[in-house]
Amino acid sequence: MLEPTDISKKATRSDDAPVRIAVVGLGYWGPNLIRNINEFPGAEALIACDLRKDVLEATGRRYPTVEMTTSFVDVLADPRVDAVVIATPVTRHHPMALAALRAGKHVFVEKPLAASSEQAEDLIAQAERSGLVLMPGHTFLYSPPVMMIRDLIQSGELGDIYFISTSRVNLGLHQSDVSVAWDLGPHDFSILRYWLDETPSVVSALSRGCIIPNVPDVAFINLEFGSGAVAHVELSWLAPSKLRRTTVVGSRKMVVYDDTSSEPVRVFDSGAVLPNPETFGEYKLTYRTGDIVSPHLEAAEPLYREIEDFCSAIRTGTEPRSSAELGLEVVRMIEAVDSSLQHSGVRVDMPLAA
Ligand SMILES: NC(=O)c1ccc[n+]([C@@H]2O[C@H](COP(=O)([O-])OP(=O)(O)OC[C@H]3O[C@@H](n4cnc5c(N)ncnc54)[C@H](O)[C@@H]3O)[C@@H](O)[C@H]2O)c1
Repeated sequence: MLEPTDISKKATRSDDAPVRIAVVGLGYWGPNLIRNINEFPGAEALIACDLRKDVLEATGRRYPTVEMTTSFVDVLADPRVDAVVIATPVTRHHPMALAALRAGKHVFVEKPLAASSEQAEDLIAQAERSGLVLMPGHTFLYSPPVMMIRDLIQSGELGDIYFISTSRVNLGLHQSDVSVAWDLGPHDFSILRYWLDETPSVVSALSRGCIIPNVPDVAFINLEFGSGAVAHVELSWLAPSKLRRTTVVGSRKMVVYDDTSSEPVRVFDSGAVLPNPETFGEYKLTYRTGDIVSPHLEAAEPLYREIEDFCSAIRTGTEPRSSAELGLEVVRMIEAVDSSLQHSGVRVDMPLAA
């Protein structure tokens, strides 16, 4: 069992040396993190840690220079380790990230940052006290299509955002310890937060646990923002085909973002205008269906960019795009979903972000 002790001395290394990283949790996602750390010249995957010997053996065969261990305590005690990357189940995020921060390590923890906003706040406070980087792994914030759409929104090209509707559904991977909102919700919630630069003021939700009793595997979530924008997020582990489709409707243009397409972003110069609102009774709307543009996107692996941002935050002290504060806001959004579900889908007011 983890019994973290405060270590005031931070891990140090010369400025031009790679950030030495230990990756903890080598299940489905962890190996992707090791691969990207290995490819990024500013980092070195020093140690890989998992409780399971079989996954350690498989990882060791693939990365013979990376040291393998089953002991997280040994990882934290190792003075060579500058930073710890945590890809364990959500319930382990808080105790492991807290122990790593207390051991003087910078921490990257997979999404969601923690299993409650109280835990997320605790981690943020510890990181601030220790002067260490704490970064949640909201990978989509580093995805070229997501970054492109943020630029389109922020530059005003789409006009005022009326609404966003998004579907993230597939058959599998059912989780037994968290609901679909905790598993897939962080992706869409972090994207919406990044695009709109605001957290919702009201959240409501409907869900059902179809396969595992009391583990919701489908959720329909409504979000209302102070700016007037509204969003609908559909999440499911139970669908006949994979959909990763988001529609953004603005007063000037519309965007369809399909992460499974060879043209992931399509910008539609389409819309509707009411030329004389006072004569609305005559329904004289003008519809515009203009060009459809599929912008060129940078070919970059989001995880690589994410690791780069983490290492840059360690070196320069800059705040990563996927900041701990954003991670906390995402956790609050999921908690609002849970709160709505516990009260028959009522509209739940969100606390204002600091
Ligand atoms: N950013 C993304 O796009 C993305 C995608 C998938 C998963 N994730 C996140 O990654 C995390 C892991 O998900 P997963 O699907 O890989 O889970 P998983 O269950 O497949 O793997 C978790 C691994 O952690 C290990 N583990 C658990 N406790 C440990 C401990 N105390 N010490 C060492 N190892 C321990 C387990 O043995 C297992 O191998 C979750 O937080 C999930 O939300 C992120």
